[in-house]
Amino acid sequence: MSVLTTLTRTWLTRTVKPFTFTSEYDRELPFAECENLGIYVHIPFCRSICAFCPYCKVPYDRELCDRYVDALIREIHATGNTYEGKKKVTSLYFGGGTPALAANRIKEIVNALNDHFTITDGIGLELHPDNVTPETLSVLKDAGVTRISIGIQSFSGKYQSVLGRKKIDTEALQAALRAVPFETVSMDLIFALPGQTFEDLKTDVDTAFSTGANHVAIYPFIDFTFTSSRVPEMPKKQKRELLDRITDYCLGKGYTRNSIWTFSSEPDANYSSMTRENFIGFGCSATSLFRDSFKINTFDVNAYCDRINAGEPATSLTIRFTGRQRMVYWLFWTSYSTRLDPAGFERFFGVPLKKAYGFELWLAGILGFVRKKDGILEMTPKGAFYYHYYENYYTLAYIDKMWGIMRKEAFPDRIEF
Ligand SMILES: C[S@@+](CC[C@H](N)C(=O)[O-])C[C@H]1O[C@@H](n2cnc3c(N)ncnc32)[C@H](O)[C@@H]1O
Ligand code: SF4
Repeated sequence: MSVLTTLTRTWLTRTVKPFTFTSEYDRELPFAECENLGIYVHIPFCRSICAFCPYCKVPYDRELCDRYVDALIREIHATGNTYEGKKKVTSLYFGGGTPALAANRIKEIVNALNDHFTITDGIGLELHPDNVTPETLSVLKDAGVTRISIGIQSFSGKYQSVLGRKKIDTEALQAALRAVPFETVSMDLIFALPGQTFEDLKTDVDTAFSTGANHVAIYPFIDFTFTSSRVPEMPKKQKRELLDRITDYCLGKGYTRNSIWTFSSEPDANYSSMTRENFIGFGCSATSLFRDSFKINTFDVNAYCDRINAGEPATSLTIRFTGRQRMVYWLFWTSYSTRLDPAGFERFFGVPLKKAYGFELWLAGILGFVRKKDGILEMTPKGAFYYHYYENYYTLAYIDKMWGIMRKEAFPDRIEF
């Protein structure tokens, strides 16, 4: 555990008490009172496994996928039945793995969710470039999907081979996207790959927008300790220059920065499963965030199906927050949008942000990380870089450790950070 993350945690939570996750869990999820609630559904199957990828996934197998989706629908009903009537939720996102591999069953899953929830803000789903065909896109559109996100990584053959993926057929991609349009077409790009220049990244961004995207996500490459790939890390100075230049380039083109990693060419294009105040996650490895707790389902696909089929929740670990810990979670997740609304904080916690974190806000202003505009705190490019940088530490200190353990053990007893 890095000294930096321990010190930050102790400072911001005002206690040396660690974040403690244990195997005890709630039978009924406490989502009834949650406002601004999102839903996430995890589909853990891929045609081939990329060595660099940390997510919970297994090679696609039709039978296993069907068994999994049956369990998923059972989990949705088990949770939904605890609420009388239909609960309003903002958005629904399908992530993975590669959810498009279960395209023929997405409608059933959406129908199950519609029995218990009213989704007000559209449905998003992730695809591998190989899934972007008019046939699959039509099936997804028919199931109610309004936004798609495609894992491009890079249009350059050189960087695709660094990542062990194959070159993308841009013409076929463009033709399919023209044939079946969606409100948002987002493309994932990875930056900070070894030797990657600003020109390389700019070409990727331009190609994404000219091939049919109206939204791009530019993720910094993260080298997880438990993955088998060893892609050398780009030095900090070079990374910052690349991020600053691509940010300036996108803003100069008139694109909107919707979140720390994303830019859109059209005002309504949006794809973000991150910035919800509360969310329910269904499926293996899915996380849920409520008023006072956070939980994570098992990473083991078979253990997940067995638990659900036995009428038990598939929860592997739960944390019960102290008030300050929840504030830190709120601030961390909502900061992904690069904007903080002090009124939103006060509505959620009943305490003014200035009272809870006045000194930190003052310091962030002095250091040039945030500025106030129309009552909203906006992250500056410098603040965005340091957020990126800290996020990398956070990912390696918390997510890397937790996922590393959960990939090996379906139901660990306890994890402390
Ligand atoms: C679930 S995948 C997207 C859909 C599909 N499975 C695919 O790969 O095309 C989610 C995204 O996470 C990003 N990602 C995966 N591993 C990463 C890593 N080590 N560092 C940074 N981004 C990563 C990639 O951009 C990837 O497209
Ligand atoms: S990057 Fe996408 S296709 Fe590759 S293993 Fe991860 S989830 Fe699967």
